[in-house]
Amino acid sequence: MSGLRGVRIAVTGASGFCGSAVVRAATEAGATVVCLGRRPGPAGEHRYWDAARTAPDLTGTDLVLHLAAAVGDPPPGHAAEDAFRAVNVDGTARLLASAGDRRVVWVSSASVYATPGPEPVREDHPLGGMTAYGRTKAAGERLALAAGAVVLRPRAVYGPGDPHLLPRLRRAVRGGRVLLPGPDIPLSLTAVANLADACLAAAAWPAGAYNIADAVAYRRDEIVGAALGVPVRHVPIGAVRAVAAAATAAARLTGREPALSRYAVEQLTTPMILDIGRARAQGWTPARTFTDFLRTGQRRSAA
Ligand SMILES: NC(=O)c1ccc[n+]([C@@H]2O[C@H](COP(=O)([O-])OP(=O)(O)OC[C@H]3O[C@@H](n4cnc5c(N)ncnc54)[C@H](OP(=O)(O)O)[C@@H]3O)[C@@H](O)[C@H]2O)c1
Repeated sequence: MSGLRGVRIAVTGASGFCGSAVVRAATEAGATVVCLGRRPGPAGEHRYWDAARTAPDLTGTDLVLHLAAAVGDPPPGHAAEDAFRAVNVDGTARLLASAGDRRVVWVSSASVYATPGPEPVREDHPLGGMTAYGRTKAAGERLALAAGAVVLRPRAVYGPGDPHLLPRLRRAVRGGRVLLPGPDIPLSLTAVANLADACLAAAAWPAGAYNIADAVAYRRDEIVGAALGVPVRHVPIGAVRAVAAAATAAARLTGREPALSRYAVEQLTTPMILDIGRARAQGWTPARTFTDFLRTGQRRSAA
């Protein structure tokens, strides 16, 4: 990516996994970065912003890349819904009001989609998030689209420093193998470097929603086995759903994220391929693959 020299970019969520990759890519491309969040990003000026409470200070910036979000899979209920809404919906409204005429690239998620069929999912697929996260991301992106933003929908982002995907899968390792609900499925994943490239490129795209994923679809068992370095064993979906129901019931009492949720089981058992033709038509090419990550990035991720 080149051509960002002299551009002043506000990045929200810059302290997080994806946001910090975006900040590094923007800095390498010559942009000046202002990081907005409760913690600083890996480079650039830090301006404190709590999306659940206040409006961000975007003074002196030309472009806004919004990655801040309440993420996770909390036990269902009003408390989680309200906490997620405060950041993902109300925080978005505050951000859009502050952005004024600036271009906004709003990072959403494929979690906003209703359960897909076997066909690749295009951007006009019905929405219907299953969780507080998916529902509030869908509501936030509606505001962003109405304000003329570019909305990116990545799926299952992986890469060095990933605190979500592989750490969760590591918890499913038992006795030298990883237990997954069978059967194997095809799925899209998004390399964090591909998402970072898309965030920087998307400022020049027409307003609207764009799926963002690697160029190839993967086989779940192959990538999980290769990433964790252990063989995959299948367990019946019904048994895993029962464990998830029990874990969710327990999590309602503790208020903590369940070790295994119904949503996680659906993610692992529902084929989901994103059609990325719309983003590709803008000239964006997802160059990185999971094989690149296994070769170069995984040791850092596991550290
Ligand atoms: N990782 C994935 O697989 C994936 C997949 C699809 C979409 N996404 C999207 O990508 C974006 C980044 O996700 P991530 O994986 O990088 O998550 P992450 O590592 O958990 O980072 C979340 C970021 O959001 C910020 N944030 C949370 N609450 C905030 C608040 N009240 N005020 C200000 N900032 C707040 C955090 O900053 P502070 O704590 O410093 O404030 C942090 O920088 C999100 O929009 C997410 O929906 C991620």
